[in-house]
Amino acid sequence: MSRKEQIDLNRLPRHIAIIMDGNGRWAKQRGQMRIFGHENGVKPVKDVAEACTELGIEYLTLYAFSTENWNRPQNEVNALMNLLVKTIHAEIKTLQDNKIRLLAIGDLKSLGEESYAELMHAIELTASNENLALVLALSYSSRWEIVEAAKNIAIKTREGSIEPSDIDSAMFSEYLTTRSVPDPELLIRTSGESRVSNFLLWQIAYTELFFTNTLWPDFGKEDLYEAIIDYQNRERRFGLISEQINPL
Ligand code: IPE
Ligand code: IPE
Ligand code: MG
Repeated sequence: MSRKEQIDLNRLPRHIAIIMDGNGRWAKQRGQMRIFGHENGVKPVKDVAEACTELGIEYLTLYAFSTENWNRPQNEVNALMNLLVKTIHAEIKTLQDNKIRLLAIGDLKSLGEESYAELMHAIELTASNENLALVLALSYSSRWEIVEAAKNIAIKTREGSIEPSDIDSAMFSEYLTTRSVPDPELLIRTSGESRVSNFLLWQIAYTELFFTNTLWPDFGKEDLYEAIIDYQNRERRFGLISEQINPL
Protein backbone atom coordinates (compact mmCIF):
# COMPACT_ATOMS: atom_id res chain seq x y z
CA MET A 1 0.00 0.00 0.00
CA SER A 2 1.36 3.44 -0.89
CA ARG A 3 1.78 5.97 1.88
CA LYS A 4 -1.08 8.03 0.52
CA GLU A 5 -3.39 5.02 0.70
CA GLN A 6 -2.49 4.51 4.36
CA ILE A 7 -4.03 7.87 5.27
CA ASP A 8 -7.47 7.67 6.89
CA LEU A 9 -9.40 10.37 5.03
CA ASN A 10 -11.99 10.49 7.79
CA ARG A 11 -9.42 11.53 10.40
CA LEU A 12 -7.45 14.19 8.58
CA PRO A 13 -6.15 17.20 10.45
CA ARG A 14 -8.18 20.26 9.44
CA HIS A 15 -5.12 22.46 9.77
CA ILE A 16 -1.44 21.64 9.24
CA ALA A 17 1.24 24.19 10.12
CA ILE A 18 4.83 23.92 8.88
CA ILE A 19 8.08 25.56 9.99
CA MET A 20 9.95 25.40 6.68
CA ASP A 21 13.54 25.23 7.84
CA GLY A 22 16.91 24.20 6.40
CA ASN A 23 17.16 26.13 3.14
CA GLY A 24 20.53 27.67 4.04
CA ARG A 25 22.09 24.35 5.03
CA TRP A 26 20.71 22.70 1.90
CA ALA A 27 22.46 25.33 -0.24
CA LYS A 28 25.67 25.16 1.78
CA GLN A 29 25.85 21.39 1.29
CA ARG A 30 25.93 22.13 -2.44
CA GLY A 31 28.53 24.88 -2.14
CA GLN A 32 25.92 27.50 -3.05
CA MET A 33 24.72 30.78 -1.56
CA ARG A 34 21.90 30.62 1.00
CA ILE A 35 19.45 32.26 -1.41
CA PHE A 36 19.84 29.26 -3.72
CA GLY A 37 18.30 27.24 -0.91
CA HIS A 38 15.40 29.67 -0.58
CA GLU A 39 14.79 29.53 -4.32
CA ASN A 40 14.66 25.76 -4.07
CA GLY A 41 12.22 26.06 -1.20
CA VAL A 42 9.46 27.20 -3.52
CA LYS A 43 8.81 23.83 -5.15
CA PRO A 44 8.07 22.05 -1.86
CA VAL A 45 5.59 24.83 -1.04
CA LYS A 46 3.79 24.07 -4.28
CA ASP A 47 3.95 20.30 -3.74
CA VAL A 48 2.68 20.47 -0.17
CA ALA A 49 -0.14 22.87 -1.10
CA GLU A 50 -1.11 20.53 -3.93
CA ALA A 51 -1.02 17.48 -1.66
CA CYS A 52 -3.18 19.25 0.94
CA THR A 53 -5.67 20.29 -1.75
CA GLU A 54 -5.86 16.74 -3.10
CA LEU A 55 -6.44 15.30 0.37
CA GLY A 56 -9.03 17.92 1.30
CA ILE A 57 -7.09 19.58 4.13
CA GLU A 58 -8.78 22.89 4.96
CA TYR A 59 -5.86 25.02 6.22
CA LEU A 60 -2.11 25.00 5.64
CA THR A 61 -0.03 27.59 7.49
CA LEU A 62 3.56 28.09 6.37
CA TYR A 63 6.14 29.95 8.45
CA ALA A 64 7.94 31.84 5.69
CA PHE A 65 9.58 34.76 7.51
CA SER A 66 9.80 35.47 11.22
CA THR A 67 10.13 38.78 13.05
CA GLU A 68 13.63 37.66 14.04
CA ASN A 69 14.55 36.93 10.40
CA TRP A 70 14.68 40.73 9.80
CA ASN A 71 18.02 40.61 11.65
CA ARG A 72 19.66 38.40 9.02
CA PRO A 73 22.21 39.99 6.65
CA GLN A 74 20.49 42.67 4.57
CA ASN A 75 21.23 40.94 1.25
CA GLU A 76 19.45 37.78 2.43
CA VAL A 77 16.43 39.77 3.69
CA ASN A 78 16.21 41.62 0.35
CA ALA A 79 16.53 38.41 -1.61
CA LEU A 80 13.78 36.76 0.44
CA MET A 81 11.43 39.72 -0.07
CA ASN A 82 12.11 39.70 -3.83
CA LEU A 83 11.49 35.96 -3.94
CA LEU A 84 8.21 36.47 -2.09
CA VAL A 85 6.94 39.08 -4.58
CA LYS A 86 8.12 37.07 -7.58
CA THR A 87 6.62 33.82 -6.34
CA ILE A 88 3.23 35.27 -5.42
CA HIS A 89 3.07 36.98 -8.79
CA ALA A 90 4.02 33.81 -10.67
CA GLU A 91 1.65 31.56 -8.74
CA ILE A 92 -1.60 33.51 -8.77
CA LYS A 93 -2.87 31.45 -11.69
CA THR A 94 -2.03 28.18 -9.89
CA LEU A 95 -3.89 29.43 -6.81
CA GLN A 96 -6.92 30.29 -8.93
CA ASP A 97 -6.84 27.04 -10.93
CA ASN A 98 -6.74 25.00 -7.74
CA LYS A 99 -9.23 27.25 -5.94
CA ILE A 100 -6.72 27.96 -3.17
CA ARG A 101 -7.45 30.95 -0.93
CA LEU A 102 -4.40 32.90 0.14
CA LEU A 103 -4.28 34.43 3.62
CA ALA A 104 -1.43 36.00 5.58
CA ILE A 105 -0.62 36.53 9.25
CA GLY A 106 2.04 38.75 10.77
CA ASP A 107 3.07 42.37 10.80
CA LEU A 108 2.31 42.66 7.09
CA LYS A 109 2.75 46.42 6.85
CA SER A 110 6.43 45.96 7.74
CA LEU A 111 7.01 43.98 4.53
CA GLY A 112 7.55 47.04 2.42
CA GLU A 113 5.24 48.57 -0.13
CA GLU A 114 5.81 46.30 -3.09
CA SER A 115 5.57 43.02 -1.18
CA TYR A 116 2.53 44.26 0.74
CA ALA A 117 0.73 45.34 -2.43
CA GLU A 118 1.47 42.06 -4.25
CA LEU A 119 0.32 40.06 -1.25
CA MET A 120 -2.91 42.03 -0.81
CA HIS A 121 -3.66 41.73 -4.52
CA ALA A 122 -3.33 37.93 -4.36
CA ILE A 123 -5.39 37.74 -1.16
CA GLU A 124 -8.21 39.77 -2.70
CA LEU A 125 -8.18 37.85 -5.98
CA THR A 126 -8.37 34.47 -4.27
CA ALA A 127 -10.76 35.47 -1.46
CA SER A 128 -13.73 33.44 -2.69
CA ASN A 129 -11.79 30.25 -3.48
CA GLU A 130 -13.21 27.27 -1.63
CA ASN A 131 -10.48 24.65 -1.47
CA LEU A 132 -7.42 24.90 0.76
CA ALA A 133 -6.75 28.12 2.70
CA LEU A 134 -3.01 28.74 2.40
CA VAL A 135 -1.89 30.96 5.27
CA LEU A 136 1.54 32.59 4.93
CA ALA A 137 3.17 33.68 8.18
CA LEU A 138 5.23 36.71 7.18
CA SER A 139 7.07 39.01 9.53
CA TYR A 140 5.30 36.87 12.10
CA SER A 141 6.19 36.02 15.64
CA SER A 142 3.92 34.65 18.26
CA ARG A 143 5.04 36.97 21.04
CA TRP A 144 4.44 39.96 18.77
CA GLU A 145 0.96 38.65 18.02
CA ILE A 146 0.11 37.97 21.67
CA VAL A 147 1.36 41.39 22.79
CA GLU A 148 -0.70 43.07 20.02
CA ALA A 149 -3.78 41.18 21.19
CA ALA A 150 -3.15 42.23 24.80
CA LYS A 151 -2.75 45.88 23.75
CA ASN A 152 -5.98 45.86 21.75
CA ILE A 153 -7.89 44.24 24.60
CA ALA A 154 -6.45 46.82 26.99
CA ILE A 155 -7.64 49.66 24.71
CA LYS A 156 -11.18 48.24 24.55
CA THR A 157 -11.21 47.74 28.30
CA ARG A 158 -10.14 51.32 28.90
CA GLU A 159 -12.85 52.52 26.50
CA GLY A 160 -15.32 50.47 28.51
CA SER A 161 -16.50 48.35 25.56
CA ILE A 162 -15.34 45.18 27.34
CA GLU A 163 -15.06 44.29 31.02
CA PRO A 164 -11.99 42.49 32.41
CA SER A 165 -14.35 39.70 33.46
CA ASP A 166 -15.34 39.20 29.77
CA ILE A 167 -11.79 38.17 28.90
CA ASP A 168 -11.40 34.44 28.49
CA SER A 169 -9.39 32.24 26.17
CA ALA A 170 -12.06 32.19 23.45
CA MET A 171 -12.18 35.99 23.44
CA PHE A 172 -8.39 36.27 23.50
CA SER A 173 -8.20 34.04 20.41
CA GLU A 174 -10.43 36.52 18.59
CA TYR A 175 -7.73 39.18 18.99
CA LEU A 176 -5.00 37.07 17.38
CA THR A 177 -4.14 37.27 13.68
CA THR A 178 -5.35 33.67 13.37
CA ARG A 179 -8.90 34.58 14.46
CA SER A 180 -10.44 33.11 11.30
CA VAL A 181 -8.36 29.92 11.40
CA PRO A 182 -8.83 26.90 13.70
CA ASP A 183 -5.83 25.79 15.79
CA PRO A 184 -3.56 23.37 13.92
CA GLU A 185 -3.83 19.69 14.84
CA LEU A 186 -0.37 19.00 13.38
CA LEU A 187 2.82 21.09 13.33
CA ILE A 188 5.75 19.92 11.21
CA ARG A 189 9.29 21.30 11.43
CA THR A 190 11.93 20.30 8.93
CA SER A 191 15.76 20.35 9.19
CA GLY A 192 16.21 18.47 12.47
CA GLU A 193 15.72 21.42 14.82
CA SER A 194 13.39 20.54 17.70
CA ARG A 195 12.11 23.98 18.58
CA VAL A 196 9.18 26.20 17.83
CA SER A 197 11.03 29.50 17.13
CA ASN A 198 8.23 31.86 18.16
CA PHE A 199 5.58 30.26 15.93
CA LEU A 200 1.90 29.98 16.94
CA LEU A 201 2.69 29.58 20.65
CA TRP A 202 -0.92 30.14 21.73
CA GLN A 203 -2.44 28.07 18.94
CA ILE A 204 -0.29 24.93 19.41
CA ALA A 205 -1.32 24.31 23.03
CA TYR A 206 -2.59 20.83 22.07
CA THR A 207 -1.06 20.43 18.63
CA GLU A 208 0.82 17.23 17.72
CA LEU A 209 4.45 18.06 16.84
CA PHE A 210 6.35 16.24 14.10
CA PHE A 211 10.07 16.87 13.62
CA THR A 212 11.94 15.54 10.60
CA ASN A 213 15.60 15.77 9.60
CA THR A 214 14.65 16.42 5.97
CA LEU A 215 15.75 19.89 4.86
CA TRP A 216 12.90 21.99 3.46
CA PRO A 217 14.02 21.97 -0.21
CA ASP A 218 13.96 18.14 -0.08
CA PHE A 219 10.49 17.97 1.54
CA GLY A 220 7.77 16.57 -0.68
CA LYS A 221 4.34 14.97 -0.74
CA GLU A 222 5.63 11.65 0.65
CA ASP A 223 7.11 13.46 3.67
CA LEU A 224 3.78 15.15 4.27
CA TYR A 225 1.97 11.80 4.07
CA GLU A 226 4.46 10.34 6.56
CA ALA A 227 3.70 13.14 9.03
CA ILE A 228 -0.07 12.72 8.62
CA ILE A 229 0.17 8.95 9.16
CA ASP A 230 2.28 9.50 12.26
CA TYR A 231 -0.30 11.99 13.54
CA GLN A 232 -3.12 9.53 12.90
CA ASN A 233 -1.36 6.90 15.00
CA ARG A 234 -1.27 9.11 18.08
CA GLU A 235 -3.80 9.30 20.86
CA ARG A 236 -4.80 12.90 21.59
CA ARG A 237 -5.91 12.92 25.22
CA PHE A 238 -6.33 16.64 26.00
CA GLY A 239 -5.60 15.94 29.65
CA LEU A 240 -8.01 13.01 29.92
CA ILE A 241 -7.10 9.34 30.34
CA SER A 242 -7.11 6.82 27.55
CA GLU A 243 -10.30 5.05 28.75
CA GLN A 244 -12.24 8.31 28.53
CA ILE A 245 -11.21 8.74 24.90
CA ASN A 246 -11.93 5.12 23.95
CA PRO A 247 -14.79 3.91 26.17
CA LEU A 248 -15.32 0.13 25.95
C1 IPE B 1 14.27 28.54 6.43
O1 IPE B 1 15.55 28.19 6.10
C2 IPE B 1 13.78 29.75 5.68
C3 IPE B 1 13.69 30.99 6.48
C4 IPE B 1 13.91 31.07 7.77
C5 IPE B 1 13.37 32.21 5.78
P1 IPE B 1 16.81 28.86 6.79
O2 IPE B 1 17.19 30.06 5.99
O3 IPE B 1 16.55 29.11 8.22
O4 IPE B 1 17.91 27.73 6.60
P2 IPE B 1 18.93 27.21 7.69
O5 IPE B 1 18.15 26.88 8.93
O6 IPE B 1 19.91 28.32 7.92
O7 IPE B 1 19.54 26.01 7.08
C1 IPE C 1 12.13 29.72 11.79
O1 IPE C 1 13.34 29.33 11.23
C2 IPE C 1 11.48 30.74 10.94
C3 IPE C 1 11.03 30.29 9.62
C4 IPE C 1 11.05 29.06 9.18
C5 IPE C 1 10.50 31.31 8.77
P1 IPE C 1 14.72 29.99 11.73
O2 IPE C 1 15.79 29.31 10.97
O3 IPE C 1 14.63 31.45 11.64
O4 IPE C 1 14.74 29.56 13.27
P2 IPE C 1 15.94 29.38 14.28
O5 IPE C 1 16.73 30.64 14.23
O6 IPE C 1 16.74 28.21 13.83
O7 IPE C 1 15.29 29.12 15.60
MG1 MG D 1 16.79 28.02 9.89
